Amino acid sequence: MSTTATNPLPNASFPVRRMDFNFAETKKYWWSDDPFLTQFMNNLSSLFPYGEKFFVDSVRAIRDQISDPQLKKDISAFIGQEAMHSKEHATYNEYATAHGIDLERLEQRVRVLLEWVTRLTTKKHRLAITCALEHFTATMAQQLLEREDLTTQIDDPKMYKLWLWHAIEENEHKAVCYDAYQAIGGGYFTRVILMLLTTLIFFAVIGWFQIHLLRKDGQLFNWRSWKRGLATLLGPRNGFFTRLIGPYLAYYRPGFHPLDHETKALENNWRQRLGFSS
Ligand SMILES: [Fe+2]
Ligand SMILES: [Fe+2]
Repeated sequence: MSTTATNPLPNASFPVRRMDFNFAETKKYWWSDDPFLTQFMNNLSSLFPYGEKFFVDSVRAIRDQISDPQLKKDISAFIGQEAMHSKEHATYNEYATAHGIDLERLEQRVRVLLEWVTRLTTKKHRLAITCALEHFTATMAQQLLEREDLTTQIDDPKMYKLWLWHAIEENEHKAVCYDAYQAIGGGYFTRVILMLLTTLIFFAVIGWFQIHLLRKDGQLFNWRSWKRGLATLLGPRNGFFTRLIGPYLAYYRPGFHPLDHETKALENNWRQRLGFSS
């Protein structure tokens, strides 16, 4: 695996890092030997190849309407980062295929869903949907960067680097789509209605994919793993999603901005830990 940080636009606010992972050696249950939680991460990964392509297409479609020179550069860097995430989460399939986990099928379902969304919406709607999903990725990523109790459960060094690299970059570029949405005159009502619809569809999809992955893996009735997984995700005090309720609801404030959730020190700390030069 090699990493080089390059910045194709010197004045963008964040770099585009070229990554080249190889997951051929990764063991099946790389999250603390746990089927539910490993499949949950596989579930999330299956959303990225086409999900992040959708983000790139949404932003690219309105790029010529943006006049602010800094935002234009940041849009190009955003496209570079998301395209790299999409590529590396497609590479993730090497691991999945080696263990008989059919993530490609789930990715194709995401592709079909997003093709429908594209047919039914305007450019501004798609940008609002991207803003909603970027808020999900940024807040989930922030929590991952803050939760040593979770990241120490990742048993594989390549998976560790993939998820934490992605988490850093989701925070580096979290304001780009939102700023672009506001710059093209995107309003509050459309933003929050589409957040509501996106939330419903997002949780329906990951619920469906989770059942599918566990069933295909012969783990659907592994109650011990379910118990641990549900406690990790939905536990009353420390559940991953439970702790996201506050940051999620913040999105519905009329004056919300992604940079309200300050993560610069956290990003810096993790850039050093992962050995990134910038
Ligand atoms: Fe991403
Ligand atoms: Fe993103």
